Amino acid sequence: MRRRPFPQLSTELTELSLGTWGLSGDAYGPIADAEADAVIDRAAELGITLFDTADVYAHGEMEKRLGRRLKGRSSKTLIATRIGTERTETGGHKRFDAAYLREAFERSRERIGRDRIDVLMLHNPSVVTIEAGEATGLLKELRGKGSVGAWGVSAGSKEAALAALEAGAEVLSITYNLFHARDLHAVAAEIAMRGVTVLAHSVLAYGLLTCHWGPERTFDEGDHRRDRWKPGELRKRIAQLEVVRSMVGGEVLTPRAGALRFVLSNSLVTSAILGPRSTAQLEQLMREAGNGPPYLPDKLLSDLPSKLIGAGVAS
Ligand SMILES: NC(=O)c1ccc[n+]([C@@H]2O[C@H](COP(=O)([O-])OP(=O)(O)OC[C@H]3O[C@@H](n4cnc5c(N)ncnc54)[C@H](OP(=O)(O)O)[C@@H]3O)[C@@H](O)[C@H]2O)c1
Repeated sequence: MRRRPFPQLSTELTELSLGTWGLSGDAYGPIADAEADAVIDRAAELGITLFDTADVYAHGEMEKRLGRRLKGRSSKTLIATRIGTERTETGGHKRFDAAYLREAFERSRERIGRDRIDVLMLHNPSVVTIEAGEATGLLKELRGKGSVGAWGVSAGSKEAALAALEAGAEVLSITYNLFHARDLHAVAAEIAMRGVTVLAHSVLAYGLLTCHWGPERTFDEGDHRRDRWKPGELRKRIAQLEVVRSMVGGEVLTPRAGALRFVLSNSLVTSAILGPRSTAQLEQLMREAGNGPPYLPDKLLSDLPSKLIGAGVAS
C-alpha cells in the first residue's frame, strides 16, 4: 500500500487508515464483537498504519479494543483518538475545559494502553472553543511533554478547520468526499502552506456513494443515517448519484472505487479513513483503491466539478 509523509511524527502513513465509529455499534447499528475484532486484525495484517477512534465510541470500548488488538504491533501502528465529549446520564455534551480534557486524555491513554497517544484531537470543537486557546493549549502542552505524538482537531466546518489551522494544529480530520469537498477545498491553501497532515473521513458519504441504495432506502433505529437525511432529501441525493456511476470504467471497477479514488487523488490528503463494517468491505476498498497516481484519469477529474454542479450537488 502506498504511503504518504506524516512529517509531524517523522514517519509515513498508509494512504488508507481504519476508522472505528462503524465498528463501535454507535453509528450504523449493532455489530458483533468478533466481526469488529476481525476487521481490526485484517487491517493490521494488510499493513494499515493508522487506526482512528474517539473516546466516546462505545463509551471508550473502541479505544480498549484497539489497544488490545494492536498490542503486539505497537511499533508498526499508530492510534489516533479524539476527546471533548462528556457522556452523562442525559447523553453526550461537548466539554473542552483544560481540567476535563486532561482527565479525558489520561482515561484514553489508560484504555489504549500506550504511554504516548500517537495522535490526539479535539472532537468537533466550535470556532469559539478553538480560538479561546484553552483546549488547544492543553494539547500543545501534552505534545510538548511527549505524552502525545501529534495534536489536531476534528473539524465539523470550514470555519472550524481554518481556526484549527491558525491555532497551529498539526493534524486535521475532516469530512471529504465527492458530495462534500467544500470544507477541505476552502482551506486547501492554508493546509499546503502549513504542511498539515490531513485525515479525510466519510469518504463514501456514509455509504451513499457506493450507489447500492434504491430510492426507497430506509434505515433502522440506531443508525445515524435515519436522522441525517429527511426522506425527500435522501431520494434527491440518490438521484444525483448518476455522476458517481459515470466514473466507472477502465481500472475504476465500481462507483465505490471512483469515490475513494477521488479522495486519494487529492495530494493534500495524507490518509483516507475507511469505515468498513466487515472484513469483506475492508478488502473491497483495499482492492479498488488503486496502487498509486493517477487514481482517476485527468479528464474525468477535471470534468467532475461541472458535472457535479450540473447534477445539483453543491459539493
Ligand atoms: N467527527 C469525526 O471526527 C468523524 C466523523 C465521521 C467519521 N469519522 C471517522 O471516520 C471513519 C469513517 O467514517 P464514516 O463511517 O463516515 O465512513 P464512510 O466510509 O463514509 O461510511 C461508512 C459506511 O459505508 C459503507 N461501506 C463501507 N465500506 C463499504 C464497502 N466496501 N461496500 C459497501 N459499503 C461500504 C458501510 O455502510 P453499511 O453499514 O450500509 O454497509 C459503512 O457503514 C469513522 O469510523 C471514524 O473513525 C470521524
